[in-house]
Amino acid sequence: MPQPTSLPHGGVLINRLADAAATGEQLNSLPVITVDSWAISDIDCIGIGAFSPLTGFLNEADYQSVVESMRLANGTIWSIPITLAVDESYQTLSIGQQVLLRGEDGVDYAILTIESKYVPDKQKEAVQVYRTDDLEHPGVRKLFERPSLYLGGPITVLTRPERAQFGEYYFTPEETRAIFAEKGWRTVVGFQTRNPVHRAHEYIQKVAMETVDGLFLNPLVGETKSDDVPAVVRMESYTALLQNYYPENRVFLGAFPAAMRYAGPREAVHHAIVRKNYGCTHFIVGRDHAGVGNYYGTYDAQHIFAQFSPEEIGISLMFFEHSFYCTACSSMATTKTCPHDKSAHLTLSGTKVRELLRSGQVPPPEFSRPEVAAILIKGMRETTNV
Ligand code: ADX
Repeated sequence: MPQPTSLPHGGVLINRLADAAATGEQLNSLPVITVDSWAISDIDCIGIGAFSPLTGFLNEADYQSVVESMRLANGTIWSIPITLAVDESYQTLSIGQQVLLRGEDGVDYAILTIESKYVPDKQKEAVQVYRTDDLEHPGVRKLFERPSLYLGGPITVLTRPERAQFGEYYFTPEETRAIFAEKGWRTVVGFQTRNPVHRAHEYIQKVAMETVDGLFLNPLVGETKSDDVPAVVRMESYTALLQNYYPENRVFLGAFPAAMRYAGPREAVHHAIVRKNYGCTHFIVGRDHAGVGNYYGTYDAQHIFAQFSPEEIGISLMFFEHSFYCTACSSMATTKTCPHDKSAHLTLSGTKVRELLRSGQVPPPEFSRPEVAAILIKGMRETTNV
């Protein structure tokens, strides 16, 4: 059977999911730390190997190295600090000690073996990772809102988060790798999104699909900022889009359970590495990938990859220019393929689209497929936070 050619990042796919036998009564005696939804997403991603080669939360040496040079202490590329932020009162815990990581819902998600305990320089982390310390930036705000003691060390996952909706779209990297092989795909392009798939997204996906065997549509469904479209509404819109506009045997939809950092270029590197772990051989980076506001240049998330050799990144990047519908070409295009000036280009900002949808108006079909727009309008009515 053909196998996708990408190796997991660091060479080995990590699995930190406990087998039932490993979890016993001794858990009751462990100290408990209550963790937030970010940490639960990270625990899940580490547990299933999406964050391979991480086996847990970064220890101090890895953290310093990631913040300063986008590499783990052993030199492996890693761009986003995956950290467990806990209340300063946990300073009393000792190195080597095991603790239970419990959600606010009372569920025990993981056991952490404390390898490292440190107080981060958040100012430095913000400027290095987010390129700004502006508290208006949602990732920076989150960083400063979280407690200021970090615990590092390997974890064993006891429980994966329950999926009330769209549970059938959660796959481990081991499963997606097997599925791609089963489909006979040798080359698979991964697509990250935190938005509904509009025509520009569809265009760049389909251009990419012309040269690879399959598309892995892998929307991020962990925590996003409150004005992004909720994941459940988006999932419904993706299924409608795929049913109507994509060949069934060339696309696979799976949820990416991580939280969104909005770290632009650094998050693009992270997103590429994670999709490599899921078995993708290619990854799409378009304009302002994982960006927010005006914090990053339109193509900064593409330029950042120039710092790494293709071998050490280990996944082929497919870069795309800003794409739009051109009324003079009567097709989707970019400035690489369209000679007309801006007056012929249909571009709508995310804010404008949300405004239209919220007032029940369907965006033009050149911007959004009508089936997708209908689901978004219905979803916006039913949810209060958009
Ligand atoms: S992201 O935060 O997940 O990157 P979004 O869901 O909007 O946001 O984008 C998903 C991917 O599509 C990213 O690679 C982004 O760069 C790309 N993209 C979004 N809109 C466009 C566009 N109009 N032209 C080209 N690429 C785009």
